[in-house]
Amino acid sequence: MSVTRKQWRNPLRDDRDKRLPRIAGPCGLVIFGVTGDLSRRKLMPAIYDLANRGLLPPGFALTGFARRDWNGEDFSKVVHDAVREHARTPFRQDVWDRLAEGLRFVQGSFDDDEAFDRLAETVRELDEVRGTGGNHAFYLSVPPKAFPLVCRQLARSGLSTATTGTDQWRRVVIEKPFGHDLHSAQDLNRIVNEVFPEESVFRIDHYLGKETVQNILALRFANQLFEPLWNAHYVDHVQITMAEDIGLGGRAGYYDGIGAARDVIQNHLLQLLALTAMEEPVSFHPKALRTEKVKVLAATRPMAPFTETTARGQYTGGWQGGQKVPGLLDEGGFASDSVTETYAAMTMEVNTRRWAGVPFYLRSGKRLGRRVTEIAVVFKRAPHLPFDATATEELGENALVIRVQPDEGVTMRFGSKVPGTAMQIRDVTMDFGYGHAFTEDSPEAYERLLLDVLLGEPSLFPMNEEVELSWRILDPVLASWHAEGVPEPYAAGTWGPPSADRMLARTGRHWRRP
Ligand code: BG6
Repeated sequence: MSVTRKQWRNPLRDDRDKRLPRIAGPCGLVIFGVTGDLSRRKLMPAIYDLANRGLLPPGFALTGFARRDWNGEDFSKVVHDAVREHARTPFRQDVWDRLAEGLRFVQGSFDDDEAFDRLAETVRELDEVRGTGGNHAFYLSVPPKAFPLVCRQLARSGLSTATTGTDQWRRVVIEKPFGHDLHSAQDLNRIVNEVFPEESVFRIDHYLGKETVQNILALRFANQLFEPLWNAHYVDHVQITMAEDIGLGGRAGYYDGIGAARDVIQNHLLQLLALTAMEEPVSFHPKALRTEKVKVLAATRPMAPFTETTARGQYTGGWQGGQKVPGLLDEGGFASDSVTETYAAMTMEVNTRRWAGVPFYLRSGKRLGRRVTEIAVVFKRAPHLPFDATATEELGENALVIRVQPDEGVTMRFGSKVPGTAMQIRDVTMDFGYGHAFTEDSPEAYERLLLDVLLGEPSLFPMNEEVELSWRILDPVLASWHAEGVPEPYAAGTWGPPSADRMLARTGRHWRRP
């Protein structure tokens, strides 16, 4: 019997009605490293915001695990204060009271078997009294060197495995850094995958939780306007910028020896590149989406020679926002001869038919002119301009800029006639701003991502293969930086080291000054 078009169902199609709010089923979340900054500033507030939006199940339970000598009340106060200080949505006593009933704290260190047994007991108790149904996610907000031990403890205490023969689930959430090079990332993935199968591993790259990042897919694949131009015939180059004005005071423990490339290019910027450059997935089924990202990452390489195609810098003291700020070497905790880069720029090539010959310039830095993340697709000049040369003196290249943050939106830049009797053409911009176009506020990235963990929606979480491919891309650059030279100084409040400007000038291009 032949299969008619109507009968055939694409296995990668997702038939659920996506307009309905997605509410997590019965479950609990355990956070390791609950005393850390991320937990206080992002995770706890996001959980409250989800509860406030009615997206958590009524019996939701949040358990903190840490060495701190706290009791349940202390923990509750910490969560309460974090929520009051950092939640996005207004504080409502009834929502808080309901959430507070599901809070638990287990005191212990990661090498303490008894503490994990107590945790297992707490989780069992929650299943009974809160109806969490045997469904639990474990959030490892801890340094990666602790991952193996925590995973082993979760396995030993039986916490990592759901009851067989049921549809109960156990998931693990891990935060970057996912290793410091390809080799260590492979080791880490192996250790985590020994305890949790890949479909139960949720690696957080919080950029993927940002609305504007997800909008890259909407912009590209819901419209007819852009996709025909999205290729080497029309695009001259792409610039992906993640600029921050903050310095690294207080973060030496994590950042010294890590640097900008490992901190954000390996993950956030290469994910932005993947979403910008990938082919259209056959559906938005997680598998289909990740397949395309993996393909494009596998085709991406840093362009050589690195002395010309990359740049790195380290900020020195300077002025920012009217304030005098110290250089990296004067920030507490950094070695006085630290060669950690606080600025990194590199050129990528994507070896596919679509992108052959189009450089993707990635850059990120601390203490730059201002905080802005954007993807600028810069187009080639029109092949012929039927105007006097003077008419087009002020005409730049057409560009489509996806403004990831702040001031989220999209800008299109093109030439337009200046009013008057002469034909004079100048660049103008057309803007879409989230703030003007929509009344709802965007949820915080962590709200979206935590909800997706509880729902078991893996689309926005990089798989082991993506992480390893990203290291494969970055490793040659890191090795060459390690072998020679030191980062070039740049003054705080500027746009990075002169070598970054030379890097583009060599090809006749220049960085955008957002
Ligand atoms: C983190 C980096 O992943 O992202 C930090 O480790 C950086 O160094 C931060 O400051 C920036 O996040 P956002 O959401 O403020 O752009």
